[in-house]
Amino acid sequence: MASSSLLHAMAGYLLLLLLLHLSFLTNNPSAKHGHSPHHRRHRSHSHSPTSNVGLRQAYIALQAWKRVIYSDPLNFIANWVGTDVCSYSGIYCTASPHDPKIQVVAGIDLNSADIAGFLPDELGLLTDLALIHLNSNRFCGIIPQSIENLTLLYELDLSNNRFVGPFPSPVLSLPMLNYLDLRYNEFEGPLPPQLFQKKLDAIFVNNNRFTNSVPAVLSGSTASVVVIANNNFQGCLPPSIANFADTLEELLITNTNLTGCLPPEVGYLYKLRVLDVSRNDILGPIPYSLAGLAHLEILNLGHNRLTGVVPQGVCILPNLGNLTVSYNYFCEEEGICMNMTARGGIKYDDRRNCLPEKPLQRSEQECNAVLEHPVDCFLQKCVQGVASGTGFLGSPTPPPPAFASAPAPMAAAATPLLSPTLAPSHT
Ligand SMILES: *[C@@H]1O[C@H](CO)[C@@H](O)[C@H](O)[C@H]1NC(C)=O
Ligand SMILES: *[C@@H]1O[C@H](CO)[C@@H](O)[C@H](O)[C@H]1NC(C)=O
Ligand SMILES: *[C@@H]1O[C@H](CO)[C@@H](O)[C@H](O)[C@H]1NC(C)=O
Ligand SMILES: *[C@@H]1O[C@H](CO)[C@@H](O)[C@H](O)[C@H]1NC(C)=O
Repeated sequence: MASSSLLHAMAGYLLLLLLLHLSFLTNNPSAKHGHSPHHRRHRSHSHSPTSNVGLRQAYIALQAWKRVIYSDPLNFIANWVGTDVCSYSGIYCTASPHDPKIQVVAGIDLNSADIAGFLPDELGLLTDLALIHLNSNRFCGIIPQSIENLTLLYELDLSNNRFVGPFPSPVLSLPMLNYLDLRYNEFEGPLPPQLFQKKLDAIFVNNNRFTNSVPAVLSGSTASVVVIANNNFQGCLPPSIANFADTLEELLITNTNLTGCLPPEVGYLYKLRVLDVSRNDILGPIPYSLAGLAHLEILNLGHNRLTGVVPQGVCILPNLGNLTVSYNYFCEEEGICMNMTARGGIKYDDRRNCLPEKPLQRSEQECNAVLEHPVDCFLQKCVQGVASGTGFLGSPTPPPPAFASAPAPMAAAATPLLSPTLAPSHT
């Protein structure tokens, strides 16, 4: 059956992925000039490119690519000459999934090559590619539509480049795609809802210029990690976030201009280990449902406009090692939350709230300005990812208070918004 032969082929491809990862573990970055022995491991001698249609296509594609590479300071692609494409630096060949006697180009790995250039349309000729790693280069322009031709593509890492344009929708039609990493580029416009319906293991789109709201339809997602931080989404977190419940372990939405209340459905994400919604404009109370997140290790709610009580149910979560509620407008800590040293084993930050008994709080004036306008989350429904019209009791959401009496936020704002998950990957 076709599916079993495809499975067989993919097993070979996964082996190739493994080889790639291993070779990168042992590869010294300072020696990455394309002369290390592993680059030639898959050189084909039995099949000259002229007798192999795929390699001939690959030759056309890679030469077209070379013509739109304008800077290669490490001479990474200096050996992209001649028809033996399997000997090119960063190009990996293996047996064809359709015919094990034929070599095909299955992987491209130009990570950290510092190359500047474009992606040519001819990339669509490399139809046997299983992985493309272009992390940390200076590629710019748009992702060519022809990438939809790469029906075996399993990993696509374009992170830390200068790609622009709308979300590259051709990737949505790639049936094998499992890992998509677009972080640290200049992509703009909305995220398509279909992104969250693909069978992806990880969705990294942080540090771009994506706008509009978090799509309200999030059904069918399989991702365990969703990082959409440092974009300009605005809107609110839709209750449909609950559709991630069976897989989601890390959700990072810091610094995305999110507003509205946190939906109680966040508490349905029972596998969550990391939840970071810090540095947004989120209103209202902490939903009590968060007390059900038994696996939660890191919870960061800092730098929002949350009000009300820090609930004891959250403070006693068994695996919680770091709880940040600072820079909000909480006016009470329930039970053990008042003295987390008594709980022990946890890093707790409750500075800059409106907690009467605690040091380093906001001024009464600052607190009153916000607490005089209670938020009703029942009226504040999140419809299609957009907070339903009303900010503060029917009036449009006012800008955050000016922090005139608080010098500290400047220092905090200057700290880099990087965590290991946010930083460019090193796949
Ligand atoms: C897509 O792949 C086929 C070969 O499978 C090739 O003939 C065609 O030109 C490719 N399309 C693009 C746009 O590269
Ligand atoms: C949030 O919105 C403000 C005002 O529109 C804008 O200046 C800021 O860059 C936005 N933040 C992000 C992370 O895009
Ligand atoms: C706890 O989380 C905060 C906010 O993410 C971070 O700044 C801090 O370094 C973390 N502390 C520890 C001990 O991990
Ligand atoms: C907090 O708990 C610790 C340990 O139980 C205790 O030593 C300390 O006095 C308590 N602090 C306050 C303010 O109650």
